[in-house]
Amino acid sequence: MEVIICKTDDEMSRAAAEAVADVLNAKPNAVLGMATGSTPLGLYQQLVRMHKAGQLDFSQVTTFNLDEYVGLPVTHEQSYHRFMHENFFRHVNIPPQNVHIPSGTTRNYRAFCDWYEQRIRECGGIDVQILGIGSDGHIAFNEPASSLSSRTRLKTLAKSTIDDNARFFKSRDEVPIYAITMGVGTIMEARKILLLANGKKKADAVAQAVEGPVTSMITASALQMHPDATVYIDHEAAGKLKMREYYDWVKEKKPEAPRV
Ligand code: F6R
Repeated sequence: MEVIICKTDDEMSRAAAEAVADVLNAKPNAVLGMATGSTPLGLYQQLVRMHKAGQLDFSQVTTFNLDEYVGLPVTHEQSYHRFMHENFFRHVNIPPQNVHIPSGTTRNYRAFCDWYEQRIRECGGIDVQILGIGSDGHIAFNEPASSLSSRTRLKTLAKSTIDDNARFFKSRDEVPIYAITMGVGTIMEARKILLLANGKKKADAVAQAVEGPVTSMITASALQMHPDATVYIDHEAAGKLKMREYYDWVKEKKPEAPRV
């Protein structure tokens, strides 16, 4: 696991965007795994900026989102469909038929989840997966005690996640209780993983995910077993890391990969 500690949220977003751009430059028809929430907003802004500057073409890209709330119509202002459209898809040139977001309104969740997994396989698997992390250490909506080999499924949100996400809704009662989410096992099959975290509120979860034991109680800790996972964090989110000096030293001494 590589840990990149950035001075600011903006630096974190730029560094992660560069990593996505590197994948797209090497493979223009890459499959991207997308996350929602407040953390990746800066990353999406950077990708949109690169696209508008003519540096990044998404015309052959396919995407799969991690999760969606159950029961919210796609037009709901807090649905992840709406989030992705507003913050990313409407600004870039991904063909709409290449966009996949779990359905929060299907009447057959089990069949839908199986189909979603199958679509990921048919598209060749996810090349780069973007992740945030919950304050309880979740990735996607894999709450504590989720199986580390779980697949896409219906999941009941933890009360702490409902509390955290209440800030986006008019009241806590409006936050959906269920979500469809990729499993930890699904995420672990991505070829490359970028996990982003910012702010003090994430410091404990980041420390446990990066330096704690691999445990289903912090599902992000499974990333320690991934061959190509990079954690991009700002100073505040890095606040509880014991090996912080080492990560900075590695970043400083990193051999520059030759650029073609
Ligand atoms: C969103 C998702 C969640 C969020 C996490 C952090 O698609 O999968 O795991 O990444 O809850 O959310 P923010 O970034 O709002 O703190």
